[in-house]
Amino acid sequence: MVSASRKYCNPAYITAQPLPTLSIKMVALLLLFLTFPAVFGKDVKCPEGFQHFKRTPTAKNNHTKDWCLGIFRADRLDERDRARSVCANHNATLSLPENQKESDFIAAFSTKHNISEPHAVDGQTSPRCASRVYKAMKEDKHFNSSAVKGECNLNNKFFLFDDVNTDPAFVFGKFSYPPPNRLSSFATVNEPKVYHFAACLSYYPQYNPTNATNPGDAATSYCAGRPIGKVDIEHDFASGQPEIKSVICGRYPL
Ligand SMILES: *[C@@H]1O[C@H](CO)[C@@H](O)[C@H](O)[C@H]1NC(C)=O
Ligand SMILES: *[C@@H]1O[C@H](CO)[C@@H](O)[C@H](O)[C@H]1NC(C)=O
Ligand SMILES: *[C@@H]1O[C@H](CO)[C@@H](O)[C@H](O)[C@H]1NC(C)=O
Ligand SMILES: *[C@@H]1O[C@H](CO)[C@@H](O)[C@H](O)[C@H]1NC(C)=O
Ligand SMILES: *[C@@H]1O[C@H](CO)[C@@H](O)[C@H](O)[C@H]1NC(C)=O
Repeated sequence: MVSASRKYCNPAYITAQPLPTLSIKMVALLLLFLTFPAVFGKDVKCPEGFQHFKRTPTAKNNHTKDWCLGIFRADRLDERDRARSVCANHNATLSLPENQKESDFIAAFSTKHNISEPHAVDGQTSPRCASRVYKAMKEDKHFNSSAVKGECNLNNKFFLFDDVNTDPAFVFGKFSYPPPNRLSSFATVNEPKVYHFAACLSYYPQYNPTNATNPGDAATSYCAGRPIGKVDIEHDFASGQPEIKSVICGRYPL
């Protein structure tokens, strides 16, 4: 929960000055320095409900230096459009942790609020790669996104993102089983055989009430969400997936 702001207020710098040389003028200057941080453009602030994180700018995260992450709770957030809308209502987009520090923030929130379910995070299989998964399912072949070459490799464009400001490599490194890892199909005599797989990304910070510092685990869920009420067996495919009652949203600082 430590904000990286106020870097300019370095106590080492202040105490390094020999005291007698601290004239009134210098004290006044220091006070000014401390009172109007905004003037110096270094005090990064996030809106209420968001936590500030420093990021290492790279080509993979749109050169993002400062990012705000917020975790918001509502029911049925495995429905991707609900999760997306919660973020939109906070002037943010779906997002995901980019490093261990951000993951630890999510873990601490989970511990504090007793959340053992995964969180909805940014990332959804592209339609082109989804069609390749359906083809593999039809041919009874295993589709391993860590092994396939080209566009639909996990580290390439297997997932598309709502937001460009996060490098997904950290979360990708947390899959204990490469996606797609939740699949089902349904067939009856007179209907076409229908394939489903979990195309939306979710994230467990590895909830542990006594230890919030832990490795985390990437997972997937059916973007349609768990069915509400009673449905026919064809539309029951997502009923066994974990509930998702929180979503990770991200935005630029204020
Ligand atoms: C990428 O970063 C630039 C510069 O910070 C920003 O103006 C732009 O909106 C970002 N792109 C997207 C798609 O968010
Ligand atoms: C979102 O942005 C609008 C327009 O700037 C503002 O009026 C509103 O209060 C913001 N909402 C939240 C939840 O930050
Ligand atoms: C946390 O959740 C577990 C299982 O969902 C429940 O048994 C327990 O009472 C909850 N603890 C608190 C403090 O709410
Ligand atoms: C998927 O492919 C990767 C890379 O070739 C391999 O290490 C891994 O064991 C494969 N996983 C499964 C479940 O087949
Ligand atoms: C918390 O978990 C991390 C990672 O699993 C481990 O390295 C650390 O020793 C644990 N801390 C405590 C106090 O158990």
